[in-house]
Amino acid sequence: MSNITGYRRPLAGTQPDYLFPPYASTVKRAPTKPLVMLRHSLSETTGPVFGHDDLQPTDHDLTRQHTGEPIGERIIVSGRVLDEDGRPVPHTLIEIWQANSAGRYPHRADQHDAPTDPNFTGFGRALTDAAGAYRFVSIKPGEYPWRNHYNAWRPAHIHFSLFGPAFATRLVTQMYFPGDPLLPYDPMFNCVPDERARNRLISAFDLESTIPEIALGYRFDIVLRGPEETPMETKR
Ligand SMILES: [Fe+2]
Repeated sequence: MSNITGYRRPLAGTQPDYLFPPYASTVKRAPTKPLVMLRHSLSETTGPVFGHDDLQPTDHDLTRQHTGEPIGERIIVSGRVLDEDGRPVPHTLIEIWQANSAGRYPHRADQHDAPTDPNFTGFGRALTDAAGAYRFVSIKPGEYPWRNHYNAWRPAHIHFSLFGPAFATRLVTQMYFPGDPLLPYDPMFNCVPDERARNRLISAFDLESTIPEIALGYRFDIVLRGPEETPMETKR
């Protein structure tokens, strides 16, 4: 067997803590014993991966997946996936999911008192191009209550999942919007201890990708490793 070098571990404080009591679910799911650190192995990057051949023309445009247009403010979310040296990561499958403009998911578990939208599912997929770039068209998601504590509301956010070259290389994170007044109160956002790392989860308003009279542009670059690494809630 060949000699395999492990990946570099993230810098301290730049990734969410497993246990963050203000975020109530972490109390139940955080490990109670020290983790056993295993060496990375070849199987983590050589397994099968799905989805690359299954992209449909409207997968990246969440406003065109039904017969009518969804209610809400149209947005363009674009950016690049980069490695620790700023090199683009091409052909990466990005999946996003989000609430509708009223802050409601079309899921039976979501009984929040807000309307569903028959023209909005809130799920999209895109591949990064040769320059590591991706682009989604969507509507701005609404804030929603989540009962973590009294009067708890999630800031507007879009969930992101990135697949690398195998099932074992999946990353999950969330993108937020600049100036959201709920961010200081959100335990999920604040469970990343390092402030600079935390702020990398906030997209930037982007006039360049804004389409006149159509949609506002937001830019969200995702860095996979190194000092500028994007905080991830799930890594495997
Ligand atoms: Fe959510």
